[in-house]
Amino acid sequence: MLSDQEKQEIEAELAHYERPQALCIEALKIVQKHRGWVSDEAIRDVGEAVGLSPHEVDSVATFYNLIYRREVGRHVIHYCDSVSCWVMGCDKIRNQLCQELKIQPGQTTEDQRFTLLPIPCLGACDTAPAVMIDEDLHGNLNSENLKDILARYD
Ligand code: FES
Repeated sequence: MLSDQEKQEIEAELAHYERPQALCIEALKIVQKHRGWVSDEAIRDVGEAVGLSPHEVDSVATFYNLIYRREVGRHVIHYCDSVSCWVMGCDKIRNQLCQELKIQPGQTTEDQRFTLLPIPCLGACDTAPAVMIDEDLHGNLNSENLKDILARYD
């Protein structure tokens, strides 16, 4: 069930949309902001709130790669694996992340601190290789500054 706070925020957004269905992605973002991820139950509840079937809401949620359909850690690291970052050595960055965090892409650290996920181009090609941690973009990565950047996230 959506919380009162979630319902209020979704209703406030309704004013900006002609049709409630167009609100789907915003409603999913609101739920994720409060819960960290979007469960099957939340998919159903969002569907009821915006007038879409659970299947339709799930299609939107799975298409948009910043909506998490599984529980994630306190921080999500999205490492870019598109062409500019690949040319500039994103493989090394990914390998270092896997080694330091002791997880593989798609996994969460045992202490729930980080989840590691690939993402297509972050729009920061001029600073490749790049990662996004939560909503922060970090570019010009190398083995040295990556450690310092990770240390900023508890
Ligand atoms: S290719 Fe990585 S930010 Fe564009």
